[in-house]
Amino acid sequence: MIAMNEMSPVTEAQATDVKKPTLPDAQTVTFVKHWTDRLFSFRCTRPASLRFRSGEFVMIGLLGDNGKPLLRAYSIASPSWDDELEFYSIKVPDGPLTSRLQHIAPGDEIILRPKPVGTLVHDALLPGKRIWFFATGTGIAPFASLLRDPQTYEDYDEVILTHTCREAGELAYGAELIDSIRSDEMLAELMGEGFHEKLRYYPTTTREESAKMGRITDLMRSGDVYADLGVEPLCPEHDRAMVCGNLAFNLEIKELLEGYGLEEGANSKPAQYVVEKAFLD
Ligand code: A2P
Repeated sequence: MIAMNEMSPVTEAQATDVKKPTLPDAQTVTFVKHWTDRLFSFRCTRPASLRFRSGEFVMIGLLGDNGKPLLRAYSIASPSWDDELEFYSIKVPDGPLTSRLQHIAPGDEIILRPKPVGTLVHDALLPGKRIWFFATGTGIAPFASLLRDPQTYEDYDEVILTHTCREAGELAYGAELIDSIRSDEMLAELMGEGFHEKLRYYPTTTREESAKMGRITDLMRSGDVYADLGVEPLCPEHDRAMVCGNLAFNLEIKELLEGYGLEEGANSKPAQYVVEKAFLD
């Protein structure tokens, strides 16, 4: 079997100079990394006025052929304290935006509407002891933000990220994120020494062999995930959850969480879990 990263080597590019913006709401791309032939992440400058809560999304895009902005909702993957913004995207060959966005390079401009919104925020959850972040595919993006936010470790004793992807190569962004969080000295200073001992990471694949195979929903039903992590199943008293993935996954896990007795929350009415759809072009 050919590994994903052999077929599509990871490539990185960094900005050497930052040009003056010419588009309305323009930001300049500073860094691009291609993880697989289907996935890439990039960083761009952050508007000085942009305040957001970790886990929220904004509309970003490019100027369309008709001269009008072509925008899509993207979760901000960087934490709210970061000077720059990070995004994680799928590449859809015939997708109106991503077929073009995948070719951006450092120094290029993108459009970013500075109006953050979203439900995957700490404010939408009641206090608890343990938080679960359930992601599939690019649905990991809002959790990349929340996992680098000190509040996540201040509010909870235990933080569990599950990430289900089709192929092993699609786990690379999350695996590198977790490594960087565990070894980052600045984060340790910001969040307190030993904060990362609260963090558990549970990656699974469904269509290519990896250390753990299966959909997270099936692994919850079978009890595998609890046995593997050595933790108790979810309970409404202590557990809180945030969910971000494809539609079928969101619906299925919602049903599971309700089955455990958790109730859906919102900004206006905090409860025990919140859900958001991952970006798809
Ligand atoms: P599967 O390969 O069995 O469909 P996608 O790339 O299509 O968005 O899928 C990302 C991951 O989400 C895949 O591993 C996929 O598994 C999984 N997935 C899709 N539907 C569900 C579901 N209803 N419950 C749990 N996982 C799902």
